Amino acid sequence: MKTVTTIEEVRAQVKQWKKEGLCVGLVPTMGYLHEGHKSLIERSVSECDKTVVSIFVNPMQFGPNEDFASYPRDLAADQAVCASAGADLIFHPSVEEMYAPDFCSFVDMNGVTKELCGKSRPIHFRGVCTVVSKLFHIVTPQKAYFGQKDAQQLAVIRRMVRDLNMDIEIVGCPIVREADGLAKSSRNTYLNAQERQAALVLSKAIFLGQSMAQNGERSGKVITDAMRKLISEEPMARIDYVQMVDRDSIEPVDFIEGPVLVAIAVYIGTTRLIDNFVFEK
Ligand code: PAJ
Repeated sequence: MKTVTTIEEVRAQVKQWKKEGLCVGLVPTMGYLHEGHKSLIERSVSECDKTVVSIFVNPMQFGPNEDFASYPRDLAADQAVCASAGADLIFHPSVEEMYAPDFCSFVDMNGVTKELCGKSRPIHFRGVCTVVSKLFHIVTPQKAYFGQKDAQQLAVIRRMVRDLNMDIEIVGCPIVREADGLAKSSRNTYLNAQERQAALVLSKAIFLGQSMAQNGERSGKVITDAMRKLISEEPMARIDYVQMVDRDSIEPVDFIEGPVLVAIAVYIGTTRLIDNFVFEK
């Protein structure tokens, strides 16, 4: 498994693979890889001939007061995860390689990004869409793998690919959790022991909402109120949002009539964590 840092090197390698008629899968990441990322890489390895993992902490998707500078990074550990999952190539560009000083083109979206994380992180999805479009153009994969953990991101990427006729199959992969329920995230590393314990309130709220829906509750208000109440009983937790939306359009819905996404964002201390469940009637 090779690690390359330039766009030219990725293009040369992928060109060679395509000449041999091989199917290429891409797993875009920001690194500090855990079991969640690994599950995406393994899925790509099982479905594609060659798997490229991109590791790039994308400054464009972080707001001015967010954690770009402190975002955890560990290339050597990431290389070990990629190798053990069977990846073929790591693309690890510098910010300068990805963004020329006079860079001024963006991919943006009007719908899908308005609710949930789009409200509290107004420039986030423009940065995600722009960098993912660039990675798609650089790697030209047949398939790309994204986690359900970032459910709105998955909906945004699916819509971008559809609207802009990108010839790439988007594969959504299930949320990987710690044994006690907490969804795996590179940001869990920010939590101290007490906060780590308090963070369990997210998955508890998700499991509560999910079981209410499974048991026949159809009102978004009843479900989200119960989840909100549970979270507010944890003194270290501060709710950003608890919301039920249509799974694909990410528009708010009051009742479960089709596939819905129930998503939450909660601050534990200064760390903002997200979790969700999808319920298909
Ligand atoms: P990052 O947060 O590193 O996540 C990379 C991919 O791993 C995303 O598709 C995310 O949904 C998935 N993932 C993270 N935690 C997961 C978990 N517990 N279970 C399953 N999948 C999980 O998301 C990004 O990076 C960036 O926004 C990116 C798409 C790379 C664009 O910069």
